[in-house]
This record gives sequence, structure tokens and C-alpha cells, in this order.
Amino acid sequence: MRIVLVGYMGSGKSTIGKILAKSLKINFLDLDDYIENELENTISDIFKEKGEIFFRNKEHIFLKEVLNKKNNFILSTGGGTPCYSGNMETILKETEHVFYLKVSVAGLVERLCKEKNERPLIKNLPDEDLPEFIGKHLFERNHFYSQANYTVLCDGKSPEEISEEIEKLLV
Ligand code: S3P
Repeated sequence: MRIVLVGYMGSGKSTIGKILAKSLKINFLDLDDYIENELENTISDIFKEKGEIFFRNKEHIFLKEVLNKKNNFILSTGGGTPCYSGNMETILKETEHVFYLKVSVAGLVERLCKEKNERPLIKNLPDEDLPEFIGKHLFERNHFYSQANYTVLCDGKSPEEISEEIEKLLV
């Protein structure tokens, strides 16, 4: 079985993916980690040194590489992965179960305020500008996220509860 998790930065894709992988006894893959390993550089530095277009190119190439593997896995994507280069179409074609982990703008603002620094797209934004930025960004990206096979509402739920909810949807 193959599962792909999509959703905005801070929606819990990696945390939930790991819990789910453990429970289902399937390999866990994180696309951001995969890119960092392949390029031997952090996402932050890739953005800083080479720019976003370079990153999106690599993200597209490595996504296809991961999806070409024959084994089962749970893949946690980057927040922008489904929104570029026809990636969402590829994900849907190559995967049985695609889940959108949906968190409200208010929920994302709360989570991302604390972890802005590792995230190049919001790193330099003052906290007070986050709600407007995330609101607009999510509106643009919703078109892609909402193509997932399932949408899981994540506000107010623990990663364990969300993982259980996903497992139930798989039956
Ligand atoms: C991005 C999200 C990040 C990472 C990169 C770009 C985005 O992943 O891929 O910083 O465009 O939303 P997470 O969603 O894991 O933070």
C-alpha cells in the first residue's frame, strides 16, 4: 500500500506520517529529508543559495524518483509539492491513497509562529503578517490540496487521533 500526505507547512505531515508508518508497519519517507540527503544541503540553504526555482525543479525530480520505487511507503510531501509542475497529477496517478491534512488558517498561524526560522517562505515575515500571508497562500494552494482522495480535518486533534482516523479510512 502507498499513502501520500499533502498539506500546508505545519499541518503535521511528517509527525503523522511517522506514527502511521509505525502502526501500519510500512516504510516512512519524507520528501524534504530525501531532497536534503540527495543534495547534501538543508532546504533553508538550498533556497538561500540556489533559489526557489532550483528547489522546485529538484523537488519535482525527486518526487518522481520516489514514486517510481516499487515498494510500499508513506510519503510526507513538502507543503508546496502538489502545487508545481503537475506534481499533484503524478501523485494521484501513482498512489492509492492521498490524504490532505487540513488545518485552519488560525491553527497554522499558531503552529508556524513558533517554527518560522526553518521555513524559507515565511522566515522573514513579521508575525503580524502571517495570518494574511497564510490565508492567501492557502487559498491559492487549496485547488491542489483539495484534489486528494480524502480530506482530514486536523484542528484540535492530536497526531495520534489523526493517524487513527486515516487508518479507519483505509479499510
Ligand atoms: C514548502 C514547504 C516545506 C519545504 C519548503 C517549501 C512550501 O515543507 O518543502 O520549505 O512551499 O510550502 P514542509 O511543508 O514540510 O514544511
